Amino acid sequence: MSGVVGQRVDLPRDFAPLLIEWQRRAGRSGMPWQGSRDPYRVWLSEVMLQQTQVSTVLGYYAQFLERFPDVQALAAADADEVMALWSGLGYYSRARNLHRCAQAVVEQHGGEFPSTAAGLETLPGIGASTAAAIASFCFGERVSIVDGNVRRVLTRLLAFEGDLAQTKSQRALWALAQALLPDNPAADDMTAYTQGLMDLGATVCTRSRPACGQCPMQGICRGLQAGEPQRFPVKSRTLKRRHESWWLLLVKLADGPERFWLQRRPASGIWAGLYCPPVFESEQAAHAGLPSAWVDRLVALDAVSHSLTHRELRLHPLLLELASAPMPGELPEGRWVDAARLGQHGLPTPVKLLLQALQTPDLFAQT
Ligand code: ADE
Repeated sequence: MSGVVGQRVDLPRDFAPLLIEWQRRAGRSGMPWQGSRDPYRVWLSEVMLQQTQVSTVLGYYAQFLERFPDVQALAAADADEVMALWSGLGYYSRARNLHRCAQAVVEQHGGEFPSTAAGLETLPGIGASTAAAIASFCFGERVSIVDGNVRRVLTRLLAFEGDLAQTKSQRALWALAQALLPDNPAADDMTAYTQGLMDLGATVCTRSRPACGQCPMQGICRGLQAGEPQRFPVKSRTLKRRHESWWLLLVKLADGPERFWLQRRPASGIWAGLYCPPVFESEQAAHAGLPSAWVDRLVALDAVSHSLTHRELRLHPLLLELASAPMPGELPEGRWVDAARLGQHGLPTPVKLLLQALQTPDLFAQT
């Protein structure tokens, strides 16, 4: 029994053995990072999988490993190359931290990842849940992951009423996650258990329309017994995205090889460190500072929407095609990037798509 923010919780003792048995029988298998106990490979996959689906990660994971087969190779890479390889995966702070983390492992840990969750958590970009995933997969540590999927599984299993908008409820759930771990697990039990938590959340105990009829926990799930598994997790505050409009000045130079005028985004904020056409908060602001003859030639392309964690962006591209290079100072700060070399630059996905649409097909493929 444990007292948890006003709720007494009896732990279902069968949870861990049922989960391990189910994962081995019906869980996901054959993903390229499974079966490896190499912390570099597991870390790379976990960081990529933090906010991105398995199907998207597969190609990026293979490309990264081919280019950077070990932590030393990644640490020695140019930051721009890492960003370029990450381009399209989104949440670019992950790529910056990935590079910093590799450098920390090489410079401060002699090229070996720490072998405990507590040690891993001291590294850039490795939070508690990622540290637990790496430590349990690679070193068999008896430690629980608690990411969004796992919170859903456990709050339903326990009919956990704590409000996850509150830190004390999050801590209480973490303690319960630890208490649910298998007793004296062998290393491969911890692998199956951790993977089982992920698999159950991703494939059965889904946010909408959970497949309770196929769940190995249907006999012990208190959310199901109460007839309302989807009421959990309880969360009073949900993320509200702010709507924002941006005007992108897409300048294309048609004199010689196709080139675009791009700025490197500031080191913090949206799309930090990526390459992007100059951004303005209004159409008037985009016009201001441009020679009036150019303003008349701007072509407004169809707007596109793009969701970020805290923002819903509406992007309004304004295309300016120039036949010859402008005078210094006529354009906002930036530099020309050859269309053929765009693939070597970290570009936000909607920008990449816009630029692709504006150029001769196949140029991207040549990089
Ligand atoms: N999401 C986060 N880690 C994962 C993993 N190891 N397998 C599948 N999905 C995941």
